[in-house]
Amino acid sequence: MDKTYVGCDFYCAVDLGAGPISEVFSSHSSRKAHLRRAEYLLNMTTEITYAEEKIQNDPQSLDIPNEPKSSDTPSEAPVAPEEKRNPLQSKPDFHKLLIPFLLILLLAVSFFIAFVGKKWSCCPENWMSFGSNCYFISTEETTWEKSKKNCEGMQAHLLVINSKEEQDFITKTVNKTTYFIGLLRSQDRSHWQWIDQTPFNTSISFWLPGEPNDINEPCGTLHFNNKWGWNDLRCDRQHRSICKMMKYSS
Ligand code: BGC
Ligand code: CA
Repeated sequence: MDKTYVGCDFYCAVDLGAGPISEVFSSHSSRKAHLRRAEYLLNMTTEITYAEEKIQNDPQSLDIPNEPKSSDTPSEAPVAPEEKRNPLQSKPDFHKLLIPFLLILLLAVSFFIAFVGKKWSCCPENWMSFGSNCYFISTEETTWEKSKKNCEGMQAHLLVINSKEEQDFITKTVNKTTYFIGLLRSQDRSHWQWIDQTPFNTSISFWLPGEPNDINEPCGTLHFNNKWGWNDLRCDRQHRSICKMMKYSS
């Protein structure tokens, strides 16, 4: 009985990588044996196709357990997906410790500002504070040159007055007498100059009436004579003095 061997090309292609069986086998017996094998494979293919169709049409006909449906009673309670946790929530102690830590830090900073800073008031002890500067009133009566060196020995300089406010602050604080300040005639005595190289500004000068009056008085003083003002004086005279320095930055 003649049969059409469908799928033989597939068989040959797999085993030999060539064309139809008839072109490959020359001997009759060999051809017959392979035809039988092809027939066997065809039957297998048919059975497999039949089984597939049966599974599709009636899955329960085979002893393959069906997948459980959603309505079926579950044998085991479903496991809830693990909840993603906030890293901070997983460490509850962090929040509990943060506020006390910040409070302690705030207290420490307040303590430092209130006590450590206050002790020095940004100026050395026994110095006065005004603006960003510190002032020291020396009651030692000596020459202008020695007064200058005394200030320099304290990392300061003789008083330089930069404003009316500064002049008023000093004169309200010190006793009504004479103090050497950092004011000096130039080498040729043609003009006045401040010891810290601040340009001398005639609009910010507070000479007493009639002063400066003597070219032989090259050193400046802060002097009280009915009122406060400046007076030029001989440098070898002996008077109190006032030192000035910038406040500590730390
Ligand atoms: C004058 C000053 C002068 C001083 C010297 C006073 O009588 O008014 O200008 O500097 O004497 O001691
Ligand atoms: Ca004078």
